[in-house]
Order: sequence, then structure tokens, then C-alpha cells
Amino acid sequence: METRIFENTIEDLTAAAELIKHGETVIFPTETVYGLGANALDETAVAKIFEAKGRPSDNPLIVHVADFSKVQEIVAEIPENAKVLAEKFWPGPLTIIFKKKSIIPNGVSAGLETVGIRIPENKIAREFLNQCGVPVAAPSANVSGKPSPTTFDHVFEDMNGRVSGIIRGGECSVGLESTVLDMTTEIPTVLRPGGVSLEQLKEVLGEVLISSEVKKDDIPKAPGMKYKHYSPKASVYILKGNAKEMLEFVTKRSAFGKVAFLGFDEMKDNLPNGVEFISLGSGENPTDAAQRLFDCLRECDKRGVREAYAPEIPDCGLWRAVKNRIYKAAAGRLLDARSAKSVLFVCTGNTCRSPMAEGIFNSLGKNGVASSAGLCVMASEGAEKNAVEAVKRWNIDLKNHIPMQISQEMFDSADIVIVMTMSHKMTLPDNEKVFILKELAGEYGDVADPYGGDILLYKSCADELKALIEKIDI
Ligand code: TXA
Ligand code: MG
Repeated sequence: METRIFENTIEDLTAAAELIKHGETVIFPTETVYGLGANALDETAVAKIFEAKGRPSDNPLIVHVADFSKVQEIVAEIPENAKVLAEKFWPGPLTIIFKKKSIIPNGVSAGLETVGIRIPENKIAREFLNQCGVPVAAPSANVSGKPSPTTFDHVFEDMNGRVSGIIRGGECSVGLESTVLDMTTEIPTVLRPGGVSLEQLKEVLGEVLISSEVKKDDIPKAPGMKYKHYSPKASVYILKGNAKEMLEFVTKRSAFGKVAFLGFDEMKDNLPNGVEFISLGSGENPTDAAQRLFDCLRECDKRGVREAYAPEIPDCGLWRAVKNRIYKAAAGRLLDARSAKSVLFVCTGNTCRSPMAEGIFNSLGKNGVASSAGLCVMASEGAEKNAVEAVKRWNIDLKNHIPMQISQEMFDSADIVIVMTMSHKMTLPDNEKVFILKELAGEYGDVADPYGGDILLYKSCADELKALIEKIDI
């Protein structure tokens, strides 16, 4: 599909609004993130949003309007305290959940009886929504799972060719999505922290709850919360500790591939060579961190980073929203920098046992990060097909594994080197940090090589590795 680019002129915004009226999709800037809009009253148009994003349709959309008078047309009732909220925070980065009228199609509410509404503050957004005349349903304009777009370049990268139009705006001033507040519950509940803080809401409403993270199998209140979000290709980890401790751990990891430290400017003194620094701004300034975060996550991909480390974030004000997004990007992986171990699994060819062990270790939420290498590497790419298959059932993806020959640098940087057999141990220098996996797990013997075997053999090897790695005390 050809995507038209619109500028911030009355003629262009009118033309973009015409596309919406004709059931097409248009991306527009807001102060939070760019939104991928379509006419909220037109089920067919709304379906195009899900298609463009590749988004599961059980996730409801926020409806954007230009002014408060439009809200009455789409919601069943407006509680008194919601009017006070609207007065104080609209236009702005707050989405309020109301009981919906039937005029809102199921495609927007994903079958819920409620609808989320927001009046954005961004001038281009407001002019565009005014011209549209209809309510505009819009999720963040990223491909599902990727960080939300906060610049025109992000949008263009993800969505050119997938939507009918994009309105060019500057950088989004808030940089994180709106606070989602459910006003249909007895006590108002924050479903997603954002640009308006819990403290600000409490000032107006008194008691406000904050919904705890959704467990995997629960039916989530904000369905968007159950998906892994904001993820760059790199594995993201949160580090607890002071700057020195964090950098020490990150440095150790840099022997195994490109690593980035997503840190505050105050922490970058003594940054070692080989560690990419990606700045979240000053640690004193949550506004800056919020505004930069998604760009920082995208920057990891641009620089080809394999592992990215971020510091712990405080639990107050706007920091809460920053913390929520970083933790999601990290899928909850939290390490204690003081005691975290850099682990190196070693086998013969680094295509079967050690890559499976690496993937298993990293999936278990232990206080460490693992890599793997081989003593005699012949293959140049990929783990064995059956090894990839054997760990897929645990959501471990070895498709992009690159076999690596062990080097002195890797050996030296690892806190602990774990081999599969006695003969591997004999090949390595006699060093007290080298252990045979079974010995470390309190057992005796080798983990046999499944190389050349069928999938059943690989699966039983993977089961064996998993049981052993679960037992080791890291
Ligand atoms: O700042 C924002 O909110 C941006 C801009 C474009 O307005 N939009 C945005 O939309 O972030 P989206 O779809 O990426 O995230 C909306 C979140 C999702 O987690 C969704 O599950 C939740 O809000 N949500 C929407 N309607 C809901 C409803 N009726 N009940 C509960 N949660 C809802
Ligand atoms: Mg989103």
C-alpha cells in the first residue's frame, strides 16, 4: 500500500482527516506516542489497525476525541469524579475507562463493556481530530511487541507501506503512553502507569488502586498487559546495585558480544571500553528518561546489541511509568549486580549441549547471565536443528545462535565455566572456576553428546540439562 506523508498544514491535516472519514488508517503524533488511527465507529476501518500492527484483536483500543462534548456521545455514563478528572487532566496523557454505549463496535472494545477515552494535548493531534469529526480509535503506532514510536523516523521505519497516511510531527514531549485509569470499578484503578502519576490522581480522587502485574494465565484487566512489550532484539536486564557494581558486571559480559548500559549520565564515569552507553538523561529527571526511553530501546537494535542492562528505577511519580516500561522490556529479569554470575557453558562444537544449556539457564530467572562456547567449533552458523526444536517447548529460541570458539578473553571474563564432561574439563586450564555440570548439581558423570541423534534423544538431553541447571545454586 502506498503511504502518503502529511505535514503540519491545514490542507494536509484536512486531507489526512478525509482518509479517516473514508475508512482508512492514518498515523498521527500525540504528546505521549504516535497513534495509529481509524474511525472508531467503523468496524471495517478498525480491523485495518489490527492488520497493520499485527496485533491480537483481544486487546481493546483507546478512542481519541477533540473535546469533552464528544465523550457523551460514546459513553453510557460519566461519573462525577471523572468530570473533575477531565477538567484537570484533559487535554493530556490520561486515558479514562468508562462504560460504553453500543455505538462503539466490538472491534474497538475487544468485547468488553467499557471503552478507554483520551483527549490528547498535542496541537497537531487536536487539529486533526477536529477535522475528522468522528472519534478516532488509535493504539500506539508500532509493530506489536516493539517499543512505541516517539519520533517520525520510528513510525516510518515500522509502518511505511502498512497504513494510508502518516502525519509528520516532532518528537513526542511525554514519550511514554498515557496513564490508563479505570473509573468503572468501585475504587478507581490505574491499569497502566503513564504521564499522569498516581500521586496526581490521588490528589483529585482520594483513594486510587494500582493494578498489580498480571500473571500469565489470569484474565487481564487491561488486556495489553499480558504481552511482552517494548522489546528490542537484545535481552534486557535490570541491575540492582551502585554504578561501580553495575559496570563491573556489564564489563564481564562484554567478552561475549556487544552489550549496552542504558544508564544515567551520572553513571557513565569510568565506563569501560567495549560497553555501549545509551543515555536515559539525568537520574534527577524522570521527564527526560520518559521522553528518551523508547528511543534508547530502539537504539539497542541499531547498534546490534545482544544484552542491554538498565539500573533499578524508583517507585514514585513519573518514574513509576518509566520503571513499568523498562521492566516489561526486561520481561521482569532482575539481577543483583553484587552477586550476579557471568556463566559460560562449554561443550565440544557449541551447536547442541552448550547452546541448549545457555538458553535454559537464561530462561530460569537465576541471578546470572549465561553464554556458551565450544572447544572445537566447526559450524559457522546455527545450533543443530534438533537442539533448536528440543527447547522450543520452553519458549527458548536458538534460531539465531552463532557457534563460538572459546577464547582466552571469554574464559577470563566468566565467573564460572560449566562443562559437560570430564574430558572437556581436562582440555581447559586447571582452574578452580571450571566445573562439570553434573558435579555442580551434586551428581556424578557426563552429559552425553546427542549429536546426530533424533529429536527424542535431543529432547531427553534437554530434559537432563534442565533438571541439572535447576539444581545448581546460582
Ligand atoms: O498514550 C497512549 O495511550 C497511546 C496514544 C496513541 O494515545 N495509545 C496507546 O494505545 O498506548 P495502546 O493500544 O498501545 O495501549 C492501550 C492500553 C492497552 O494496554 C489496552 O489493553 C488498554 O489500554 N485498554 C484500552 N481500552 C481498555 C478498556 N476498555 N479496558 C481496559 N483496558 C483498556
Ligand atoms: Mg501499545
